[in-house]
Amino acid sequence: MNQLSERVILVDHPMVQHKLSILRDKNTSSGQFRQLVRELSLFEVYEATSDLALEPVHVETPVAMATCMQLTGRKMAVVPILRAGLGMVDGVLDLIPAARVGHLGMERDHDTHEPHEYYAKMPRDIAERDVLVVDPMLATGGSCIAAIEYLRRLGVKNIKVMVLVAAPEGIDALLAADGDVRLYTCAIDECLNEDAYIVPGLGDAGDRIFGTV
Ligand code: URA
Repeated sequence: MNQLSERVILVDHPMVQHKLSILRDKNTSSGQFRQLVRELSLFEVYEATSDLALEPVHVETPVAMATCMQLTGRKMAVVPILRAGLGMVDGVLDLIPAARVGHLGMERDHDTHEPHEYYAKMPRDIAERDVLVVDPMLATGGSCIAAIEYLRRLGVKNIKVMVLVAAPEGIDALLAADGDVRLYTCAIDECLNEDAYIVPGLGDAGDRIFGTV
């Protein structure tokens, strides 16, 4: 893990870098791509939960009493941005099976060109939960920023964003749009191209996860 700033964390474990290289390869099959997205999400959520609070608990082992540590039980939710974010949910749930899942679909308004939610289904108590917003690619940052604004309107206080690949343009926009959010990414790429694809990136993550290329 490489803390680039107070709010940007690069998850650059050697296993992560190796898996990301396979993910980027245009010849990687859809099935393998999906599995790698899940595995990378698991590595990333491990880092994104490294600041969770602990409290002491007394446990009787077969040999003696032990004072151990357990999570204080803060409730968590994972919110995938449809559609590509769905590919990261199982990796998060592998580590945090008790997390609730909220779904958020974003689209661009025809008139204003601003992203807004076309579908949202959140856990009832989302405002009391720590939320992990997941989307494999942070390109312009538009839909991610709109997702955060939506969650803030619902009263969510603690939001972390997990992506696999980020463009510098998206990172700058995200940090400028929200003063508190923390970003976890496995790579920071060079730039966006004229079609707003990340360069070198990995192509359209949703198409590659769902085999719709
Ligand atoms: N979304 C993608 O899936 N890929 C990109 O490169 C940019 C946005």
